[in-house]
Amino acid sequence: MIETPLSVLAICGSLRAKSFNGALVGELASLAPGGMTITVSNSIGNLPHYDGDLEAASGIPTGAAQLAQLVTDADAVIFVSPEYNTSIPGVLKNAIDWLSRVPGGPLANKPVLIKSVSPGAFGGARMQPHLRQVLSAVGAFVYPRPDIAVGLASQRFNEDLRLTDDPTREAIRKQLADFSTFARKLNRDLDDCEER
Ligand SMILES: Cc1cc2nc3c(=O)[nH]c(=O)nc-3n(C[C@H](O)[C@H](O)[C@H](O)COP(=O)(O)O)c2cc1C
Repeated sequence: MIETPLSVLAICGSLRAKSFNGALVGELASLAPGGMTITVSNSIGNLPHYDGDLEAASGIPTGAAQLAQLVTDADAVIFVSPEYNTSIPGVLKNAIDWLSRVPGGPLANKPVLIKSVSPGAFGGARMQPHLRQVLSAVGAFVYPRPDIAVGLASQRFNEDLRLTDDPTREAIRKQLADFSTFARKLNRDLDDCEER
């Protein structure tokens, strides 16, 4: 069966060169179902801190406008993020805050999937409901379940930061397949609503 294309933008909440979350972003293409293409944005670290005075003086910064365009152009978005002090890394929250200021709200009505990786046992699971809440506030449709939080990362990734744990690979493969069904259906339903 030929799947209709689904373009997915992946955004990582870690800026580290040897990030486990970045490594998982790098694995997504090999785990994606037919028709799903993954584009990666590494730009969130270049955005200024959100500042209402800056916005009033010079509008949306170029980097935020470019990220907003990538989000708008994508059929769906995947956030892969670490957990910092049981919540969302500031750099990622900052990027979402800038996106929320772009007219039209690029994340509104967007199918979104959240994933997290941590060397700790919880895998970033405590961050996920916080990110879900923020993304819901900007109008995204966050894939409801299952949450996949990859814990004990140094046992699941090898020294080259390849995801070598087969059960984790299979769980993510299945989740991406289910998410692609969800995203396609949601986008079709939203198109139908607009046509009415
Ligand atoms: C400021 C800070 C807070 C952290 N808090 C948590 C935490 O609450 N839970 C957790 O599992 N790991 C926590 N960690 C550890 C990160 O999960 C770990 O550094 C991880 O490797 C970061 O993701 P990355 O490899 O993608 O950069 C924290 C790390 C930092 C720097």
